[in-house]
Amino acid sequence: MSTQKIILTGDRPTGPLHLGHYAGSLRQRVELQHQHKQFIIIADAQALTDNADNPEKICRNILEVALDYLAVGINPAVTTIFVQSLVPELAELTMYYLNLVTVSRLQRNPTVKDEIRQRGFGASIPAGFLAYPVSQAADITAFKADLVPVGEDQLPMIEQTIEIVRSFNRIYNCSVLVEPEALLSSVPRLPGTDGKGKMSKSLGNVISLSDSADMMCQKVKTMYTDPKHLHVEDPGTVEGNPVFAYLDAFDPDKKGLEAIKDHYRRGGLGDVVVKRRLLEVLSEEIDPIRAKREQFAQDPACVMRILKEGTEAARVVASRTLDEVRKAMRLDYFAYE
Ligand code: TRP
Repeated sequence: MSTQKIILTGDRPTGPLHLGHYAGSLRQRVELQHQHKQFIIIADAQALTDNADNPEKICRNILEVALDYLAVGINPAVTTIFVQSLVPELAELTMYYLNLVTVSRLQRNPTVKDEIRQRGFGASIPAGFLAYPVSQAADITAFKADLVPVGEDQLPMIEQTIEIVRSFNRIYNCSVLVEPEALLSSVPRLPGTDGKGKMSKSLGNVISLSDSADMMCQKVKTMYTDPKHLHVEDPGTVEGNPVFAYLDAFDPDKKGLEAIKDHYRRGGLGDVVVKRRLLEVLSEEIDPIRAKREQFAQDPACVMRILKEGTEAARVVASRTLDEVRKAMRLDYFAYE
């Protein structure tokens, strides 16, 4: 039991989760929850840093994301699932950590930089958006997480968290905060169904866990493949072909998959046949998830109760850390002895 670590990871509730989330992280969380103590944060406050004008969207998606978690097999009996904004201790920690970080350091965070460009903020960057890596450091350190399973784009957040932990422990001469380590997924990021970059809801190239069977079928049928593979007998390209990227992520029969790839490269194997195999493999894995999701969706009150209980449990842990933080900072004014 001494090897049991504390894990914290999570998602912004900006839309339902998709196959990319599933292959890259949700599957891993289902495994990890049995070996470690796992916390999963639904980061609504972080989602608001660039959605301040649309809180309904965030609010609606909290339930959607929770349904996705439960449907894939994240078990609330062992994993604590909680809502970020309902743990106000995180906001207080963020406030103190902000003093340990410079604006120029925040502006150098490569992921934030990319996102600022993508969102076209220009000179009007919301301060909360620029500072969200600090709030993420609060999320991670409040639970004294050892491991943070994330995609590559989140590595700069872990790096900044480590810097904050070191500054805090040095300045306040303590060892209250724990340095986290990133746990990178072994599955490469899934491309979108259009073969252009990653799956992203705003690009409309995703297969969501909440898509109906018909929708999934339709999306697979119209998936981008090798544009030079015009006739069945033409040789085809596997690399960069999203149909094969999905098969790599989901086909349990690796040997069979190699044979399919060889055949495709050689020529004589049509896209329709390969897509039929993909649909078979996806149905095998996603149909039971969809069924479970539909079942949970019939009782939203039950799902919200799970989140409420998880949030209460998370608050207990976060407020313990906050007490230690305040004490280290000599802010425990009324703790006379
Ligand atoms: N930034 C993460 C994302 O966009 C979500 C997140 C918020 C998170 N707090 C976290 C991830 C803490 C890991 C740890 O998906």
